[in-house]
Amino acid sequence: RIVYVNGRWVPEEQAQVSVFDRGFLFADAIYEVTAVIDRKLIDYAGHLARLKRSLEALSIPLPFTDDELLGLHREIVARNELESGLIYLQISRGAADRDFLFAADMAPSIVMFTQKKNILENPKWKTGLTVKTMPEGRWMNRQIKTVQLLYSSMMKMEAERAGADDAFLVEDGYITEATSSNVHIVTKDRRLVTRHLSNALLHGITRASVLSLAKEVALQVEERAFTVLEACDAAEVFITSASAFVMPVVRVDDAVIADGRPGPISQKLLEIYIKDRM
Ligand code: PDD
Repeated sequence: RIVYVNGRWVPEEQAQVSVFDRGFLFADAIYEVTAVIDRKLIDYAGHLARLKRSLEALSIPLPFTDDELLGLHREIVARNELESGLIYLQISRGAADRDFLFAADMAPSIVMFTQKKNILENPKWKTGLTVKTMPEGRWMNRQIKTVQLLYSSMMKMEAERAGADDAFLVEDGYITEATSSNVHIVTKDRRLVTRHLSNALLHGITRASVLSLAKEVALQVEERAFTVLEACDAAEVFITSASAFVMPVVRVDDAVIADGRPGPISQKLLEIYIKDRM
């Protein structure tokens, strides 16, 4: 792969970041993941807007204009002949001698790489995921897309050890998110319930797109917190993210959701999301 590091295009073996980078030492960095299908960027405007919000929240300057950043995305697709897959972009505050205090004028480090992946042929869309609930142990500003992913990674590993595909993080009985996606349920009376936006969860770009499409197909949307019990009792449960789009969940802990197979509404939303965004 050809990756982008601080203004240079280099083969991945030659890419280097300082050990003093604050992304490495303090997780002082934000990131975005954007899907690519047929060489086209999916939901790019949303990812760009969130990137700016995350940077703003951490007072990290964005050293590019919108056109330049879009140009970098297009260029990494072209240089890697990426038909289908993901673009990962990380911006850290930059490198400096280790200190909890940082200077206002640091030069951010920017890294971009691609992951080839046949995103439109996800076998799990047919079977759905099983998930295990875990206590919410991340920090309190989850709306910022920071690289503090240690807890999420630990919980996904633990879920996998317990035989599940992913974990649902639970705070005061309410589901916040899965480890790297937003969680939604469809009630038995066909309402789509998804947690309202706050600092408790990442404001998913796929979540926003899917909600607007749900309204278009006359599915009533209710933005509020919901409990694990409500999820277990739902007609359908699904997650959304830039890498899985709309992915059904068929088991939460020991509770089988409906008949244990992906439901029609999540399937429909996956279909119209792909159609609408391509
Ligand atoms: N993760 N919640 C969390 C904690 C996430 O990490 C993500 C995305 C989402 C979904 O957001 P979006 O629809 O904008 O991708 C929700 C990316 C895909 C990742 O870490 O790979």
